Amino acid sequence: MVTGSILITGGAGFIGSNFVRYWAERHPDQRIIVLDALTYAGNLANLSEFDGDARFRFYPGRIEDPTVVSGIFRCEKVTHVVNFAAESHNDRSMLDPTGLIGSNVTGVSVLLEAASRYGVERFVHVSTDEVYGQIHSGLFREDDPLLPRTPYSAGKAGGEMQVRAHVIAFGTPAMVTRGSNTFGPYQYPEKILPFFITRALDGKALPLYGDGRQVRDWLFVEDHCAGIAVVLEKGQKGEAYNIGGGNEFTNADLTRRVLGLLGKPESLIRHIPDPRGAAHDARYALDTAKAAALGWSPGADFDDALEATVRWYVDHPSWWRPIVESEPYQAYIRRYYGPTLGADL
Ligand SMILES: NC(=O)c1ccc[n+]([C@@H]2O[C@H](COP(=O)([O-])OP(=O)(O)OC[C@H]3O[C@@H](n4cnc5c(N)ncnc54)[C@H](O)[C@@H]3O)[C@@H](O)[C@H]2O)c1
Repeated sequence: MVTGSILITGGAGFIGSNFVRYWAERHPDQRIIVLDALTYAGNLANLSEFDGDARFRFYPGRIEDPTVVSGIFRCEKVTHVVNFAAESHNDRSMLDPTGLIGSNVTGVSVLLEAASRYGVERFVHVSTDEVYGQIHSGLFREDDPLLPRTPYSAGKAGGEMQVRAHVIAFGTPAMVTRGSNTFGPYQYPEKILPFFITRALDGKALPLYGDGRQVRDWLFVEDHCAGIAVVLEKGQKGEAYNIGGGNEFTNADLTRRVLGLLGKPESLIRHIPDPRGAAHDARYALDTAKAAALGWSPGADFDDALEATVRWYVDHPSWWRPIVESEPYQAYIRRYYGPTLGADL
């Protein structure tokens, strides 16, 4: 049972904002504090339903800023923390491998230090299955080695190492979750699902990397939130927990399903040379027995959740169109896909 105030960092992003909603519904009396830097991926519109809600407080700022972080812990009497804040996109990490270190590594250390100093009761650091690297068959278990292969996953592994060290050195009551590829409403349209949904709606080409046979384990965002909540409430200090949907699909399969749901032709697919090259992991898959032992299991039916997600984007152009039409977004698309998509951009 969580009392006190919960600090949700990165709460204006995709999973963070879904977690704020998930938590608020189930803990109506608890204060929710969000700290978010509002990077290109952060969007206060994701939290608009909390405007004027006395339980909710938003702080703009960076998790790697010790002054901001200490001020929040002191003023808000934070008892629980869930850290979502991160540069979260693999492809962008290929363009700027160093730019993520502040958010994904240093910031984790700053948060942990404050958590320890202010006597926080429980802390969950949200990590990713990508820290394991790729697996061609079988499932990753939590005690497998971390062998990241992109700057993004290496940064996330670095954040996890901060957690490990703070637990051992200072006794900080922290846990780690390693979630798989997540999908659902409010996902920034640079990630494959919303990128392809929004482009297909506009009749634009869908750039599929290489042969499209990379396998991902898809997890509906509500199930991801439920897994994080269970670890926050029942996880053991110092432990990591895999949170996977058990829905393995190749990127090509997923793309065809999206086109089918939208009633769009497969001729929109363009196979482009893989911009991640050798760093593109072939497959991720998770053994989730450890989280199941805490009482968690993914509840969503994949087909229903995918259909609901596609429907959400169809129904919410007012959310995604200003993003995809903005110059920073278009500049990124030109920089990343321009060389391969050419006239199909
Ligand atoms: N999306 C996935 O499939 C997935 C899967 C597993 C794990 N994760 C992890 O879950 C977390 C959330 O992912 P997401 O997809 O919601 O990301 P997102 O990019 O949608 O949101 C990230 C949020 O963090 C904020 N942020 C970034 N750097 C910050 C900083 N230094 N200080 C404060 N705020 C900062 C951004 O403004 C944004 O609101 C990340 O840590 C990511 O690594 C994501």
